[in-house]
Amino acid sequence: MKPRPIVIGNWKMNPASHGEAKKLFSQIKRASNTLKKVDVVIAAPFPYISLLHTDSKKFLLGAQNVSGELSGALTGEVSASMLRSLDVSYVIVGHSERRAMGESDEMVNKKIKTALGAGMKAVVCIGEKTRDTSGTYLSFLRGQILGTLAGLSKRDLQDVVLAYEPIWAIGSASKGAMDANSLHETTLYIQKILSEIYGREGTSMIPILYGGSVDESNAESLLTEGKIRGFLVGRASLSRETFLPIVMVAEKMK
Ligand code: PGA
Repeated sequence: MKPRPIVIGNWKMNPASHGEAKKLFSQIKRASNTLKKVDVVIAAPFPYISLLHTDSKKFLLGAQNVSGELSGALTGEVSASMLRSLDVSYVIVGHSERRAMGESDEMVNKKIKTALGAGMKAVVCIGEKTRDTSGTYLSFLRGQILGTLAGLSKRDLQDVVLAYEPIWAIGSASKGAMDANSLHETTLYIQKILSEIYGREGTSMIPILYGGSVDESNAESLLTEGKIRGFLVGRASLSRETFLPIVMVAEKMK
């Protein structure tokens, strides 16, 4: 069976009110009812999660972070079991914006383990800050993959999704999305590292998504020529008009 593409909307710290969040969520949910081939995930801010409901297997709720601890006196933290009890299926871990606040590979590794332990899938973000001609970014990526996936078994991999997000391509101040050829080269490199750890099987088990300035104009080439499984979408996930065309690209992929 052909693996299903995945499109994840990362709302980050948006929208500003729960009314707007509910509206946007239901617009996307309604449109997603007709989809057959793609899984759509909305990673909402914590306060909105309990207000957003879905019983679809193809339109799912996600979170943008989770504690690496199971429980305890941890002011401001949100545990994996809390999220799972609110029907969260996917958790983004190690996003570069959280790593910039001090999250290490080791912390990301603990978060992956708590997410998987609670029965959710972990969307593990990796990506270099800059690219150089001497290839330093490749060893950086390698370190991130080895560090974040440390101790995970082949069985665990079934619930891991890798999101390759070069930091230089994220956000409105960036240079824009990376080109599809470079993305393909990078996905091959990531797969090579995965196969070193888990063997050939491992490389096909972990879906690789791309994130960083994905929009309607670049989604098709990134998906087909970049040979990825789907997207992690930031800005363009904040309106139906910009998000759904990206979802449709994945839905129509042959
Ligand atoms: P962007 O963000 O699509 O707005 O560049 C992507 C991300 O940070 O996940």
